[in-house]
Amino acid sequence: MNVLSLSSLVLTLLCAVPGHLASPAPQPDAHHPALSSRSVLPAASHSVAFSKKVPRRKAKVDALSAFRGGVVSRHTYTTVPLAGSNLDTDYLVNVTIGGQNFSLIIDSGSSDTWVPQAGFSCFNLTGSPVPQTTCNFGSTGFNPNSSKTFELYQNVSFNQTYGTSEYVAGPIALETVSIGGLEVSRQVVPIPDVAAWTGDGILSGILGLAFPNVTSLFNTSDPTMASYTSNHIPYDPFFFTAVKQKKVEHPYFSIALNRPTAEQAETDLYTPNLGLLAFGGIAPVPVIHNTSVTVPVLAYPPTAAESKRQFLFYTLSIDSYNFPGSENVPEARNASLGNGTTILDTGTAFNLVPAPVAAGYAAAFDPPAELVTTVGLTLYVAQCNATVPQFSVTIGGQAFSMDPRDQLVPFVTDAQGDVTCVLGTQAQGGPDIASDFHLLGDAFLRNVVATFNPIGREITLTQRVAY
Ligand SMILES: *[C@@H]1O[C@H](CO)[C@@H](O)[C@H](O)[C@H]1NC(C)=O
Ligand SMILES: *[C@@H]1O[C@H](CO)[C@@H](O)[C@H](O)[C@H]1NC(C)=O
Ligand SMILES: *[C@@H]1O[C@H](CO)[C@@H](O)[C@H](O)[C@H]1NC(C)=O
Ligand SMILES: *[C@@H]1O[C@H](CO)[C@@H](O)[C@H](O)[C@H]1NC(C)=O
Ligand SMILES: *[C@@H]1O[C@H](CO)[C@@H](O)[C@H](O)[C@H]1NC(C)=O
Ligand SMILES: *[C@@H]1O[C@H](CO)[C@@H](O)[C@H](O)[C@H]1NC(C)=O
Ligand SMILES: *[C@@H]1O[C@H](CO)[C@@H](O)[C@H](O)[C@H]1NC(C)=O
Ligand SMILES: *[C@@H]1O[C@H](CO)[C@@H](O)[C@H](O)[C@H]1NC(C)=O
Ligand SMILES: *[C@@H]1O[C@H](CO)[C@@H](O)[C@H](O)[C@H]1NC(C)=O
Ligand SMILES: *[C@@H]1O[C@H](CO)[C@@H](O)[C@H](O)[C@H]1NC(C)=O
Ligand SMILES: *[C@@H]1O[C@H](CO)[C@@H](O)[C@H](O)[C@H]1NC(C)=O
Ligand SMILES: *[C@@H]1O[C@H](CO)[C@@H](O)[C@H](O)[C@H]1NC(C)=O
Repeated sequence: MNVLSLSSLVLTLLCAVPGHLASPAPQPDAHHPALSSRSVLPAASHSVAFSKKVPRRKAKVDALSAFRGGVVSRHTYTTVPLAGSNLDTDYLVNVTIGGQNFSLIIDSGSSDTWVPQAGFSCFNLTGSPVPQTTCNFGSTGFNPNSSKTFELYQNVSFNQTYGTSEYVAGPIALETVSIGGLEVSRQVVPIPDVAAWTGDGILSGILGLAFPNVTSLFNTSDPTMASYTSNHIPYDPFFFTAVKQKKVEHPYFSIALNRPTAEQAETDLYTPNLGLLAFGGIAPVPVIHNTSVTVPVLAYPPTAAESKRQFLFYTLSIDSYNFPGSENVPEARNASLGNGTTILDTGTAFNLVPAPVAAGYAAAFDPPAELVTTVGLTLYVAQCNATVPQFSVTIGGQAFSMDPRDQLVPFVTDAQGDVTCVLGTQAQGGPDIASDFHLLGDAFLRNVVATFNPIGREITLTQRVAY
């Protein structure tokens, strides 16, 4: 999920609790759980490969059209309108719903698992009806008539709007959902019959892995009456159902995102085998065992009284961001990092960190990375042959390092064939926009195995062996 929609959703959810935002100044938190512990995780009982649809080709097309339109000159670094792709990195997993197969985005930053319903109406982003093919999902959608296990969840509806102005709404099914052999029954699965979506012809929805309180089920059969403040009913997302139905022995799911090769990133529209999603234990990839730490998932907002905090996302505390010069950036240390507003999000490509941290890191590149604004986007970019400074993130006392290839990513090719690279670590909200939320996205996550225990509300991070 991108930050724009994240922030507004959280605001809405918190507003649903009367007086929440009006709560007085931050109180010292006497009940803060132990900041970290070490534990040994069981091996996963089920694991499933996933693949990545690399959005580079679209980036190039957009960049070239920007050149043609004269938006970007030869001497400016170029960037593309990422809003169109929702900052998604599109790590996909195959999911079977009522016997029908779909490729879904793995998203630790949202909680609904939805697919469009066969025969859905497609709209453009300003709400005018357009042909179904314009939505460009990777399938014609879920057909209830072809499912032996379909049940309509009566008198409720789904309604979700994304920061990109994309939206989906409609009825909700109770269905059998199976991922890599892990099968649950009567899972709540929205099957929107209305969609405004900018698809890529491959993915057909989202697999949401975050907490129940950010699901989007409303106690009305009319989705236009959906309201987080009056008729929102949280439900168990897929993995919570799997735990309740005792389909996993241990309440863990674990994600290892692989880095595509430069070649794959350049040419593949669909790259299979780009990582693993495991259920029941740690994903089976080589790790450096003594780097494993387990930290608590933090409730939001961190400064509110405990009774007013909610578990929404995989939020954790950062001890420090470490890079050459970080000792001169106070914001790179936990004293000013907000104590629990950083989210692990597989649905976002980059790390989005406090602006002074991003600026300090950009300055450490040789030659330094520059902040460039084109077509409404502000991003740090650098020459692709720049020297990438070391970067690590300390969490629970353990420094997790990032591979330079995740910090300087080929992004657009200009009319002269020169490639511009974009930094994997960017300023949250741009340089001047304050925001409560920061994200460690795919750029960071490709370097670790992230194992989530949403029931015990813990996250275990383990550094992967370099690959
Ligand atoms: C998903 O399913 C499609 C079609 O069956 C298959 O081509 C693809 O390789 C599968 N992807 C993964 C990651 O298993
Ligand atoms: C759906 O995926 C499952 C598991 O990968 C596979 O066994 C089945 O043949 C697929 N069904 C269709 C209709 O492609
Ligand atoms: C499912 O069956 C009903 C009743 O026969 C029909 O009205 C509807 O169009 C069918 N839906 C799809 C997606 O085929
Ligand atoms: C949607 O379609 C309407 C009618 O064709 C058009 O006026 C509008 O500009 C379109 N909006 C977008 C975002 O394409
Ligand atoms: C749904 O609403 C209808 C009409 O309001 C009611 O008759 C029916 O019992 C409801 N169904 C359930 C499962 O609540
Ligand atoms: C849903 O709304 C109906 C009234 O329309 C109400 O009776 C019922 O208790 C509500 N259900 C929940 C779970 O809030
Ligand atoms: C979603 O709900 C909002 C109100 O919360 C409403 O304005 C909007 O029309 C609904 N969207 C759809 C597609 O039903
Ligand atoms: C992990 O082990 C390696 C060598 O096996 C050692 O160099 C490193 O300091 C250890 N790290 C920790 C955090 O114990
Ligand atoms: C979910 O939200 C409700 C308020 O809507 C709150 O009472 C509850 O504690 C929250 N649950 C969690 C686990 O955060
Ligand atoms: C801040 O980070 C340091 C190590 O980087 C750690 O020792 C300390 O416990 C952390 N403090 C908080 C409040 O997280
Ligand atoms: C974070 O927590 C530490 C230790 O409790 C505190 O000193 C610091 O002021 C907090 N920082 C913020 C931004 O709340
Ligand atoms: C780095 O690439 C730029 C073009 O992007 C080129 O002008 C420069 O000479 C290159 N520097 C080195 C050290 O190769």
